[in-house]
Amino acid sequence: MNSWGNNFKISIFGESHGEALGVVVDGVRPGLPLDAEQMLPDLTRRRAGGQGTTARREPDTPQIVSGLFRGRTTGAPLAVMFRNVDAQASDYERFIDTPRPSHVDFVASRKYHGYNDFRGGGHLSGRLTLPLVAAGVVAKLHIAPVVVRARLLSVGGSPNVEQQVAQAQAQSDSVGGLVECEATGLPVGVGEPLFGSVESAIAALAFAIPGVRGVEFGAGFAAAAMRGSQHNDPIVSPDGRTSSNHAGGVVGGITNGNALIFRVAVKPTASIGGEQRTLNMMTGQLEPLQIGGRHDACIALRVPVVLEAVAAIALADLMLAHRMHNV
Ligand SMILES: Cc1cc2nc3c(=O)[nH]c(=O)nc-3n(C[C@H](O)[C@H](O)[C@H](O)COP(=O)(O)O)c2cc1C
Repeated sequence: MNSWGNNFKISIFGESHGEALGVVVDGVRPGLPLDAEQMLPDLTRRRAGGQGTTARREPDTPQIVSGLFRGRTTGAPLAVMFRNVDAQASDYERFIDTPRPSHVDFVASRKYHGYNDFRGGGHLSGRLTLPLVAAGVVAKLHIAPVVVRARLLSVGGSPNVEQQVAQAQAQSDSVGGLVECEATGLPVGVGEPLFGSVESAIAALAFAIPGVRGVEFGAGFAAAAMRGSQHNDPIVSPDGRTSSNHAGGVVGGITNGNALIFRVAVKPTASIGGEQRTLNMMTGQLEPLQIGGRHDACIALRVPVVLEAVAAIALADLMLAHRMHNV
């Protein structure tokens, strides 16, 4: 299934090298001013182009084909579509028999009995984060004045991003990274106990970003090595402000009036230039694999705006539920 959400629901369609890809957003508030141009800043932040990103050049031009009339959202499902123009399907034929290690070639062909569009990972490609970012723009309108901002903290364990990326590329390799996201202006009370917790919603969507391997809130995994006396966040004002924020703005799955802070670990790109070994599915023999084609050396470079989008979508869904509870 490729739909998520109860009150702000997204459905993603398309493939990396197919005709088009896009998103349908249901639950959009009517009357919001919107046009395709408004999506360009975020879409541009996700686009490839800089050092360490793929040589594939896509215009990523959004076409809003439903749910918009006279510059305002109508309340009907909002559909945004992007046409693929720079596909090179021939790069991927050989991965049917010799799947790339740590990529989707093997699992997708087994799960879909070989009927999957294997080109560039098909529907499981990182390109599917393009419609996610478009939905994020719509979600950001719903959560205002809450502001979501993400940034790349480190690559290869170092804040020297350029150096790490250049070194990996020079060695025909790839490198992972750490991305942090912060949402400010949240009221106390967003999120539900148990399954509808803020962490559950955000983690579900963050793990939809291909390449994300871990999510932590506030002090996160470091909390396991702390004492309660260090980790506890003293409340210092009636609106719930705390003097530290080890909780990352969420307690009991519910926002506590402080900044919501979470980080994701992004793995190094699976498609690397250096020689690897893989199973030839036809011969049953292990053999060397050299991957050509166009790939991101560091996926994390392109993740911040995608992380903002998923945070905004999760919060939009939960905030709409929160409003329903208000009497
Ligand atoms: C923006 C973006 C771009 C990506 N580009 C590539 C790429 O060029 N080559 C590659 O092997 N993986 C790339 N990925 C990651 C793969 O799509 C992902 O590793 C793969 O689908 C397997 O999923 P998993 O890593 O979540 O298990 C990209 C991911 C994102 C978010």
